[in-house]
Amino acid sequence: MEQDLELLQEATEEAEAAQDSRALYEVKMKFLGRTGKVTALLKGMKEIAAEARPAFGKKVNALREALEEKFAALEEKIKQKELEKKLAGEDIDVTMPGRHTKAGALHPVTRVKDKLIDLFSGMGFEVFEGPEIENDYYNFTALNTPADHPARDMQDTFYLTDEFLLRTQTSAGQIRVMEQKKPPIKILSPGRVFRSDDDATHSPMFHQMEGLVVDKGITLCDLQGMLDEFAKKMFSETSKTRLRPSYFPFTEPSVEVDVSCAACGGKGCSLCKGTGWIEVLGAGMVNRRVLENCGVDPDEYSGFAFGMGIERIAMLKYGINNIKLLTENDTRFLEQFKD
Ligand code: PHE
Repeated sequence: MEQDLELLQEATEEAEAAQDSRALYEVKMKFLGRTGKVTALLKGMKEIAAEARPAFGKKVNALREALEEKFAALEEKIKQKELEKKLAGEDIDVTMPGRHTKAGALHPVTRVKDKLIDLFSGMGFEVFEGPEIENDYYNFTALNTPADHPARDMQDTFYLTDEFLLRTQTSAGQIRVMEQKKPPIKILSPGRVFRSDDDATHSPMFHQMEGLVVDKGITLCDLQGMLDEFAKKMFSETSKTRLRPSYFPFTEPSVEVDVSCAACGGKGCSLCKGTGWIEVLGAGMVNRRVLENCGVDPDEYSGFAFGMGIERIAMLKYGINNIKLLTENDTRFLEQFKD
């Protein structure tokens, strides 16, 4: 009996000193576990005289029950405390401002490129992409610009070897398409081009969008009609186009295409340098020699081609005054373009 009381007291003291449920569990095992002190008492029953056993058993069981109750009550208390502590640590201040996740946006060049593809696909154009490393033949010779042609100076070329170069124009794709496909041809060729040129409106790498239409009876009027449609959809419903004579070795006649200035509606402003017009692309009727170079009979077929700088269109559309902004990757600049 003495021993029982001592054990009860010892267990109670240790259990009450336990700081957390883990420590309490250890105390519980020390007394009630398989090798615990109270369990040991029960195991020692066989050494007790048979007549004293029932009384002893009863006492030890009472002790075990008392301890179990004690532990259960303490466990409950400790768990409650631990829960309160955990909740206190997870306090949320509902008045704190929310955290913003920045939504990404497409790069203006990608936007304009996608818009152009969308717009021209609507007119039946298919996309064809040529290689960025071209050979001299596709980039120049087949485009009626042979080796000592002065027009090669119009573009400062990055040569890789005597034969290979970084394409200076997506026009190289025209030849590849005409070699592979018989007319009717209606393709759009977007891509990077490279020229040794660097100032506020020129960058050594930029993007062009080429268009080529070859079929029976194609005329300059078809080109102008299509360009009008392009200007209206890309800039504004009231946009107009005008053709000015120009020169490209691979088109004859060649034209420079202006679009009425969307900023001033054609009245004249600083963007259009007071003229009311902005030059947006080069175009023309495909030169007979180019058709011949690709095995297309120029007496049966005719075609037009056009090529525009995508950065230039983006700069005009969004009022960007320096092409460098498009490659600096400053998110404060880039996130302004949402449509
Ligand atoms: N390739 C010409 C340039 O880069 C543009 C162009 C394309 C002109 C197609 C006429 C026809 O300047």
